[in-house]
Amino acid sequence: MSKFIVFEGIDGSGKTTQIKLLHKALAERNIPVHITKEPTDDPMGKQLRKYLGGEEKTDLRAIAALFAADRLHHITTENGILDNLARGNVVLCDRYYLSSYAYQSVDCDLDWIMALNREAANIARPDLHIFLDVPAEQSMSRVSSRGETEIFEKLDRQQQIRKNFFDLFDKLKNKENILIVDGTREPEIIAEEIFNKVKEVL
Ligand code: ADP
Ligand code: TYD
Repeated sequence: MSKFIVFEGIDGSGKTTQIKLLHKALAERNIPVHITKEPTDDPMGKQLRKYLGGEEKTDLRAIAALFAADRLHHITTENGILDNLARGNVVLCDRYYLSSYAYQSVDCDLDWIMALNREAANIARPDLHIFLDVPAEQSMSRVSSRGETEIFEKLDRQQQIRKNFFDLFDKLKNKENILIVDGTREPEIIAEEIFNKVKEVL
């Protein structure tokens, strides 16, 4: 029963909304779910949020390495990804290594980013990645109402990141199970499509 399902997309693509809706659909069928996210709320994830918020600064390669370290901690820590899969939970994770590939490769070499994440992919490869596709103009207008902006939340950067995701899907099509979903529709319609695919995976 335990499956590892990851939600991906540019900022404001609707991941949080869809994770909640999928959680509801699974809980109604008494399927045990564990919800988690990256960056984590543990020390490395907290430090990443300081860099992302611009409160502290460091080299972008150091940020890439810290994302990979936060991820390995997330996988292996007590009550982390592996623990929850071992308990038979369906793990729903907001972002994982495809985010590192798409976001950090704007500034760093993609092969190096993939090498940094190779252990994560070997130890805990998702059963399904769900990519919520929304044009950058639309997702930026959704997040602008949040008030605070993070260092990657700029229109041209989000456009580049969305393109990076699509280049990756092509490159990884034989390695990763990826569902691309049109995220511009009503949340309930999107949730129905996602649930139908998740039923196949479970
Ligand atoms: P993410 O977790 O990817 O940043 P959220 O789920 O927090 O995205 O959504 C960002 C914003 O967009 C929120 O204000 C949310 O209510 C809104 N939103 C989410 N899904 C949709 C959708 N399908 N259509 C319109 N607005 C949406
Ligand atoms: P998140 O809080 O999920 O942002 P949002 O809700 O706006 O989608 O993620 C924080 C930021 O961190 C977001 O801009 C994406 C970025 N990020 C990376 O650059 N690399 C990564 O590996 C991860 C997990 C996130």
